[in-house]
This record gives sequence, structure tokens and C-alpha cells, in this order.
Amino acid sequence: MLIIASSNGAIGMEHAMRALKSGGSALDAVEIGIRLVEANPEEHSVGYNGYPNILGELELDASIMDGRTLDSGAVALLRGFPYAISVARQVMERELPHVFLAGEGAERFAREIGAEAWDEMLTEAVREAWRKRLAPTRLAQKRLALDLRDLPEDAPLLGLVTMATDSERVVGTVNFIAIDANGEIASGVSTSGWAWKYPGRIGDSPIIGAGNYADSRYGACACTGMGELAIRAGTARSLVVYLKMGMSLGAAAWQAMMDLRDLGGDFIGGMNLIALDRNGEHVGMSSRAGAGYIYQTADMDSYQECEREVVRIPERWGSQARE
Ligand code: GLY
Repeated sequence: MLIIASSNGAIGMEHAMRALKSGGSALDAVEIGIRLVEANPEEHSVGYNGYPNILGELELDASIMDGRTLDSGAVALLRGFPYAISVARQVMERELPHVFLAGEGAERFAREIGAEAWDEMLTEAVREAWRKRLAPTRLAQKRLALDLRDLPEDAPLLGLVTMATDSERVVGTVNFIAIDANGEIASGVSTSGWAWKYPGRIGDSPIIGAGNYADSRYGACACTGMGELAIRAGTARSLVVYLKMGMSLGAAAWQAMMDLRDLGGDFIGGMNLIALDRNGEHVGMSSRAGAGYIYQTADMDSYQECEREVVRIPERWGSQARE
């Protein structure tokens, strides 16, 4: 039994491991671990107190994958329901021939199954951070005291989003991957997406194959960072396919990161992944130095932190290259 997670998963690790030890499945462990991150008031990239989009609205994305069957469930742009990972799991497990629900349909589904709903998701501290971030921008200068939700429906947001978002500090996500007592693997990802994103923007987290993939025969991978990159490169599925082709875990992870170096375009930020194989080997990689991840096996009393290996991806933001 093994669980690996992004570092912000620490708050959920103990309960997730307890679930595995008491006979729970890898899926149970992943859901339990992620729910505790979604409920963490200190966490601003996942769950109810995540940073909102440019209009001050919180839109949550999540996915979960069962490596036994390659079944999966995902939601995107979910509003008013704090536990996006549980709604995603229900998309997978209810009698429904779909994998991925977004926006109003996802909310309707969440209501229909009786998922926990909250009237107010954002705390005043997060609203204040949003106001401060938006204040120096051109449009907000004109409307400083206004709630941007009062903007006319067709107000231009393009320039505003490019100014307000900055890949150095706007992304964050939680990853959990578990192997249970039967050797089955599950993976889950949850996020509030980029802070100050364009409304309707969906990242890699709910996209199976991009930010999340599990196959018990080979292994699993989950991503954090600038989701646009993992969508374009199909990062999580690529890593698992490299395992299937016979690569070692380290080589597969390195290749999945190196694939990101082929991406052109004006906006290239940071990317991170964690992965494990069916033998319980695990790895974390990041395009930036200093990042870690955590893991725990059944015989450990608590989780341990590991450094991620660095695979540099040249970053750029608009016309500006970054070191
Ligand atoms: N990796 C999370 C996101 O880009 O939304």
C-alpha cells in the first residue's frame, strides 16, 4: 500500500492511509485525501476557499480515475459545491454513460445526487486578495470600488486577464495517487484553477489523460502547474504509455516532462508531476527547483517529503522570456 501526493496533500495523508489500512480501496483513499484539502481554509488553489476567476467567481475542476477499469469521472466549472472530487467520483459511479460534466450541467448533477452545497464559498480574505490583485489593472482602475461581477455582460476581459494572471503564482492543485492492498491504483486531482482566470477556463485537472491518468497494469501520473501545457502534451497519459512501452518510471517521467519542451506559443509556465508504477516505485518532477511531494507506505507512521527532480522548461510570458 502506498500513497503519493502533492505537498499540499499533507493534511489528507493520514486519513487516506487509514482508509487503505482498514481495507478501503485506492479510490476511497484518493477521495478522502483530496476532500480534506478541499476543506482546508489555508488552501487557496483547491476547494471552497480557492482564488476565484477574474469576475470573483469560484469555478472548481476535479477528476478521479479507477486504474482497474480505466473508468473515470470529472467535473469542471463547478460552482457552489465544495467537494468537487466527490462529485467527480459520482459522475463515474452513478448510472450515467458520461465521464465529464461541466458548468450548469455539473451543478444540476451535483444537486440531483444531493452533493453537499454551500451558499458562500469564498472567505472575505480571498475576496480582499482578489480586489487587491485587480486594483492595479486598467479596467479596475476605472471601477476601483466596484465588484467586477457588476460589469456589463460583454465587457472586454482579455487584456485584464493577461495582466492579472501570472503563471509564477496563480496555479495550484492537489494530486493524490494510491495503490491499495489488492495492488489496484487510483488517481485524483482537484483545483480551483488559475487565480483570476478568464471565466470558463478549464485546466488539465479534470481532463483525463492531461492532468490525471491511472492504469493498474502500469502506473499512474497526476500533474500540477500550468494546466494548458499538460492538456497540449497529454502529459499524464503519455507517462503511463511510456511505462506501457517498457520504460522505467524515471525515464517515463523524464520523457513526459521533456515533451513539454516541444510546445511553442507565447505562454509557457511551470509544470510538475508525480507518478508511480505498479511495483510501488514513485517519482516527482518539476520544471522549477525547490518543489517537493509526499509519500507514505502502510508501514510508515507518517508521510515523508521528497524533492522533485528538476527538468527545466524554458518559460515565457507574452514576449518576455524567463530564466
Ligand atoms: N493545474 C491546474 C490548472 O492549470 O488548472
